[in-house]
Amino acid sequence: MKLLLAANWKMNKSRSEAEQTLLALKGRLDALPNEREVAVFAPFTALADCAKALAGSPIALGGQNCYPAGQGAFTGEISPPMLLDCGCSYVLVGHSERRALMGESDALICRKVAHALDSGLKVVLCIGETLEERDDGQLVSVLSRQIMAGLAQVDKATPAANISIAYEPVWAIGTGRVAGAEAILEAHALVRKNLLDVFSAPGNEMRILYGGSAKADNAKAILALDNVNGLLVGGASLDAESFSRIALA
Ligand code: PGA
Repeated sequence: MKLLLAANWKMNKSRSEAEQTLLALKGRLDALPNEREVAVFAPFTALADCAKALAGSPIALGGQNCYPAGQGAFTGEISPPMLLDCGCSYVLVGHSERRALMGESDALICRKVAHALDSGLKVVLCIGETLEERDDGQLVSVLSRQIMAGLAQVDKATPAANISIAYEPVWAIGTGRVAGAEAILEAHALVRKNLLDVFSAPGNEMRILYGGSAKADNAKAILALDNVNGLLVGGASLDAESFSRIALA
């Protein structure tokens, strides 16, 4: 299984800023080890420019969201085929900012995951508990519900490489407060158990990413933990130098 080092640029970067960052990143990741994969989740408006900047590079491109339909009367939405058309091979689904700010439900996320996979995109399904849920002893129930609901309509024969889970405790996102090793180990073991329950043995081959204030100086230690198969990086992925150090950590 290749580690997946993923950049989530969120609502940042103009087209030319995105292009400049990727050109700088490409140069710095010439020596990326074979057992690592890098993906950049760029804003929709920059995707086509990013695809051009990445031509000939192994760095994969992804969208940060999609709508679960191929086309039609869905004003303001972007379909999986449109992402593929812009050069994407990945899509993020269910990021906590979308769950919290856009009111995305488990039911909608479930449809997005299944539709994106059926369309030929690889999916990174994001899950994570809020601080209130953690303090209230709901860690296991929240994470299990988000995984089970998110994967409910997935074809069980989907290749393991096409499904990744990003565990991102909401209280660690953009706060500078990274989860401790024990909390990461506990959550990732739980995710692995859920993946095995849903997919049986192939669940062992699916990547579980950690996200939440990951940066160059903590990436190596987090990647060394059991059941951590990559990182989803927000703030520290905006700068090519910083993200390349994480990708090579
Ligand atoms: P952060 O964001 O690295 O800035 O905490 C991670 C994410 O939201 O994916």
